[in-house]
Amino acid sequence: MANVAIIGTQWGDEGKGKVVDLYAQDADVIARFQGGNNAGHTLVVKGQQTILHLVPSGILHDWKICIIGNGVVVDPKVLIEEIEKLKSRGVLPPNTRLFVSDIAHVIMPYHRRIDVARESHGMGKKIGTTGRGIGPAYEDKIARVGIRICDLLDEEVFREKLNQNIDEKNFYLTRLFQEEPLDKEAIYREYRTYADRIRPYVADTSIIMNDEIRKGKKILFEGAQGSHLDIDHGTFPYVTSSNTVAGNAACGTGVGPSAVTAVVGICKAYTTRVGEGPFVTELTCEIGDSIREVGQEYGATTGRKRRCGWLDMVLVRQSVRLSGITGIALTKLDVLTGLEKLKICVGYKTPQGEFTESLPSNPRLLAQCQPIYEEMDGWTEDITKATHIEELPQNTRRYIERLEVLAGVKLVLVSVGAGREETIILKNPFDG
Ligand code: GDP
Ligand code: IMO
Ligand code: MG
Repeated sequence: MANVAIIGTQWGDEGKGKVVDLYAQDADVIARFQGGNNAGHTLVVKGQQTILHLVPSGILHDWKICIIGNGVVVDPKVLIEEIEKLKSRGVLPPNTRLFVSDIAHVIMPYHRRIDVARESHGMGKKIGTTGRGIGPAYEDKIARVGIRICDLLDEEVFREKLNQNIDEKNFYLTRLFQEEPLDKEAIYREYRTYADRIRPYVADTSIIMNDEIRKGKKILFEGAQGSHLDIDHGTFPYVTSSNTVAGNAACGTGVGPSAVTAVVGICKAYTTRVGEGPFVTELTCEIGDSIREVGQEYGATTGRKRRCGWLDMVLVRQSVRLSGITGIALTKLDVLTGLEKLKICVGYKTPQGEFTESLPSNPRLLAQCQPIYEEMDGWTEDITKATHIEELPQNTRRYIERLEVLAGVKLVLVSVGAGREETIILKNPFDG
């Protein structure tokens, strides 16, 4: 029996939420292990859309355990609002339990303010962050000054840690950015109310995870962002501040690495990116605009336009290597319907005129790389009703077969629409 990690193979927004919701039917535990509410995971069930930022995408199913692991940075206000919203819509099932790790780090107001100030004051490189305070919260974790959920729950410890942090953050905000300082007492009062409201959800989630694994339960690890936004392996510095690759699924939930036995890489049938950074196959022409409109490529978190481009197998192959991907879930294939010709990038031509099959680490070189394409004929038939691969037009099958060969990994699923049921299942990853 397998425990499955879901990983984005591109720059995020590949459709991880849809696939996690689908696979959650077969799982017992669904756990987020990194990132925070920079994520926006969209689920469409019976025509009803749910966008989740922090709560794991298994939450719509009953009798599951949903875990926000220690590797996540938690904005308590967002968490409370998300739970309330699910409750008010009546979609929070009665027997599904949600837990938050007591050692996850908390996003504080000064993290959000610093994130936004850095991006808007034009000092240094603009990353195009989501402005949710993710980077500054992880910085404080690494600097060993961050406030954890267990610290937030302890009135005395919280007071002491807030005192330690606030003067430094206000110094930074007022002196470097000429911004207004934050009010310590107001933050203290606000966060005390959050502490009381999240207390029922707080647990040592490593113990829960390991107990469930020991009982033979099936775990689904839900990645956020994508492999090329990984802090180590992504297109640095245009990345997020956590490890998004499968290796972090264990560390970010407090289980051993052998617990992750299968890795499904989510791959959109084309490429998108939100925010700044190199993008070799970007289409700044009408085709890119058309893909954006048909695919509704607007950020689920910030509403920003997503940059669109052709499928880049250099990115996908690297993700297969970085995460040990055992199967690919191909999403949004329907969005390509109607395009006369399709291109797949199979390698890059470097500024020195050389051919490369992997991303150069040097961002200056990467920015100058040219895509090397294979061109294929498109299809015009509606594919959204297909439930078996044989029902797809011949050109569609050629496209995905080529993708499979270039990835070097078998497809496990093809998604042909946003709805849970608009899916062609090829293999159940829990079968190992
Ligand atoms: P995530 O961050 O990886 O979970 O992806 P997002 O939810 O941010 O973005 C994916 C978007 O595509 C969402 O609006 C989904 O509802 C939608 N989506 C997912 N799979 C498909 C698909 O196969 N076809 C179409 N047309 N939309 C899809
Ligand atoms: P999901 O889970 C797409 C991008 C931001 C920015 C960079 C750093 O929905 O796929 P951050 O706020 O994390 O410091 O921003 O990372 N980014 C995402 N792009 N999908 C996401 O999440 C993202 N989370 C962060 O746009 O370029
Ligand atoms: Mg998203």
